[in-house]
Amino acid sequence: MFYPNKIVLATANPHKTTEIRNIIKTYYAKDLDIDILPRPKDVGEIPETGDTFLANARIKASRIARATNLPALADDSGLLVDVLDGLPGVNSSCYAGEHASDRANLEKLLSEMEGMTDRKAGFVTQALLVFPNGDELSATGEIRGEILGFPVGQNGFGYDPVFKPDGYAMTFAEMKPDLKDSISHRKRAFIALFNRIVGLKDTSV
Ligand code: IMP
Repeated sequence: MFYPNKIVLATANPHKTTEIRNIIKTYYAKDLDIDILPRPKDVGEIPETGDTFLANARIKASRIARATNLPALADDSGLLVDVLDGLPGVNSSCYAGEHASDRANLEKLLSEMEGMTDRKAGFVTQALLVFPNGDELSATGEIRGEILGFPVGQNGFGYDPVFKPDGYAMTFAEMKPDLKDSISHRKRAFIALFNRIVGLKDTSV
């Protein structure tokens, strides 16, 4: 596996693109001299049909690596609630049905958990770099916390208004975006993956 001088992002989400670029600027200014390229505009929507975060990240990254002949970086995330055996998990974005809104997903979660005292949960991100020859580097990130009984806060997206990370007295949706981004599951997964990419400098043949 070689140290890449270019990586193309598989995400079409501008917030994620900014988040990834900020992580590199903040933590890898000297170590990661890699051009980060946006997802090509001519690649259409990529259906996420996998039944694990890794499978979905692989579907997205492989498609972009094939289309560009460059190493491609993808991520896939979700919320895993302990007492629900890891649900909504890989179905986090469509928990209340196909094309469900964030609000509908959140309300379904709150109704499923009504009266439950064990509220422990975690957000998980799988980050994956796929090379055009099929080689892969992967890393995961997690943040643990608890699900409140009702939504609090206006920021963020998805399940942010009901997720209170351990060690904080507010939900993700009450945090300024910079604070959330500095502790999030995505940040942890990308840092772990970028550390592995930097490590390729020493092992590339
Ligand atoms: P994605 O793989 O990053 O697109 O995340 C899939 C789904 O997981 C989102 O549509 C949300 O429902 C949920 N999710 C992932 N990350 C977060 C987060 O940081 N806050 C709230 N919800 C999230």
